[in-house]
Amino acid sequence: MAERIIPIVEQRSGALPAIVPQGAAASRGHVRDTLGRELRDLRISVTDRCNFRCSYCMPKDVFNKDYPYLPHSALLSFEEISRLARQFLALGVRKIRLTGGEPLLRKNIEQLVSQLAALRTLDGKVPDLTLTTNGSLLARKAQALRDAGLSRVTVSLDSLDDAIFRGMNDMDFPVAAVLAGIEAAHKAGLEHIKVNMVVKRGTNDHEIVPMARHFRGTGITLRFIEYMDVGSTNGWRMDEVMPSDDVIRLLQGEFPLVQLSASSPGETARRWGYADAGGRHDPSLGEIGVISSVTHAFCGDCNRARLSTEGQLYLCLFAQHGYDLRSLLRGQASDADIASAIAQIWGGRSDRYSELRSELPPDTSGHPMRRVEMSYIGG
Ligand code: GTP
Ligand code: 5AD
Ligand code: SF4
Ligand code: SF4
Repeated sequence: MAERIIPIVEQRSGALPAIVPQGAAASRGHVRDTLGRELRDLRISVTDRCNFRCSYCMPKDVFNKDYPYLPHSALLSFEEISRLARQFLALGVRKIRLTGGEPLLRKNIEQLVSQLAALRTLDGKVPDLTLTTNGSLLARKAQALRDAGLSRVTVSLDSLDDAIFRGMNDMDFPVAAVLAGIEAAHKAGLEHIKVNMVVKRGTNDHEIVPMARHFRGTGITLRFIEYMDVGSTNGWRMDEVMPSDDVIRLLQGEFPLVQLSASSPGETARRWGYADAGGRHDPSLGEIGVISSVTHAFCGDCNRARLSTEGQLYLCLFAQHGYDLRSLLRGQASDADIASAIAQIWGGRSDRYSELRSELPPDTSGHPMRRVEMSYIGG
């Protein structure tokens, strides 16, 4: 087995300034980047902390008690987040996802949800407001989140096998508590619940079929995510990636599947429906998805902006730098200034890391790229 080297790299790269364009007219309306991609989806990280230590995201040997988590004063307040979200909505954003770290660790998160639910999209609609959680606190929080206006929820769950689950979260957290959280979300009326499973070959690939069997016919959409080389600390290796095509082939052997079309532009997942005896999609059996960032890059229509815990705007999950919106918030900038700055930054965007990675030869230099961690800018 190849030696596993976990490089330790400063997690937060220097921010670039967010500059308010001089003499620009107030920005409102849809914006496109240099590749013609619209800004539609805003993912907001509300904390860089998590109570799990999944090795693909926050390995214990790096994210230990000496890790420099952000101090509370560095975090955007709920008012600051809502003010920024309003500007993003004025530029065409329709979907807002709260992430972390673990977003339910942020105190009174339901208050932020209700502030965001009061905002409107450009065409006057309630934004699609969702949240990605590890599910550990969901049983306790689901009803309050729903009451505050959360529309739906995505829960990360890598295995149904208790021993494997406890090992993957590396905090000995039992799977039953996450399943209870999913149940509570369902009872609270959160719609279109999704479950995300990161597949690591040799760790939980034998759980693919049991997971599919468990969620088939429940109305919950299970998505299989390729293990990604995000951040600089997870010791990523290609041989631990299980390509989505292999996942589909494996599942096809158990349950007939038919490919479905994308449900929204820029969707991360490719969708497959469970088929009936006639080979047609049976909606009562539901669907699965595969998210193949490594083997089938989906940068072509990527419409996602990410706001880090301390208010930096990232244009790509793999970006090396963010743009410092917090300084604008805490300085003299007006709302119109902030919207113009965001529009200008998006207008200059050309990021398409996953596509480029598949075009480039593998990097064997041993020098990790300076990249931000997913716990800081959010999944
Ligand atoms: P839905 O609207 O619920 O379908 O959300 P989504 O498709 O954006 O999915 P979600 O937020 O659950 O993201 C699922 C996973 O896909 C994340 O946890 C990441 O692993 C991966 N992912 C999401 N967005 C990106 C992206 O822009 N680039 C890459 N490379 N991976 C992404
Ligand atoms: N590869 C793929 N997905 C990851 N996530 C975190 N780290 C990785 C990684 N290395 C995603 C998972 C998890 C969410 C919180 O972040 O989807 O469910
Ligand atoms: Fe926490 Fe999610 Fe990262 Fe696991 S993947 S350490 S649950 S933020
Ligand atoms: Fe978007 Fe970057 Fe992911 Fe490509 S790699 S889909 S550009 S976030």
